[in-house]
Amino acid sequence: MTHSTLPVSGSSPPAPAAGYFQRHIFFCINERPNGESCCAQHGALAAFDHCKAQVKAAGLAGPGQVRVNKAGCLDRCAAGPVAVVYPEGVWYSYLDNSDIDEIVESHLKNGQVVQRLLTPPHLGR
Ligand code: FES
Repeated sequence: MTHSTLPVSGSSPPAPAAGYFQRHIFFCINERPNGESCCAQHGALAAFDHCKAQVKAAGLAGPGQVRVNKAGCLDRCAAGPVAVVYPEGVWYSYLDNSDIDEIVESHLKNGQVVQRLLTPPHLGR
């Protein structure tokens, strides 16, 4: 669809925020079959599922709010499991569901970065 085909009448539902979602959180759920270290070995899929459920339960899911997405390798495997929040570009290394709960409540709901869970800036692949 091009801009010229977008509806212009006043009968459309209210538009979401300009960016469609206020924030995205991407979870690396990459799994390496050769046994090399990867986020999937460290509970990434369960963390993704938990985050998605918590965001929904908090009423944060949907246009204008938060989207929780799976991602392939984010190339920061040495710090895994990792997730990244955009548009801020804040990287987190988490361990368990309580860490995910804190990211949801503090960052995704209230816009406050969880300093204690920040991925060390020097850790890449
Ligand atoms: S396997 Fe998760 S960042 Fe690479």
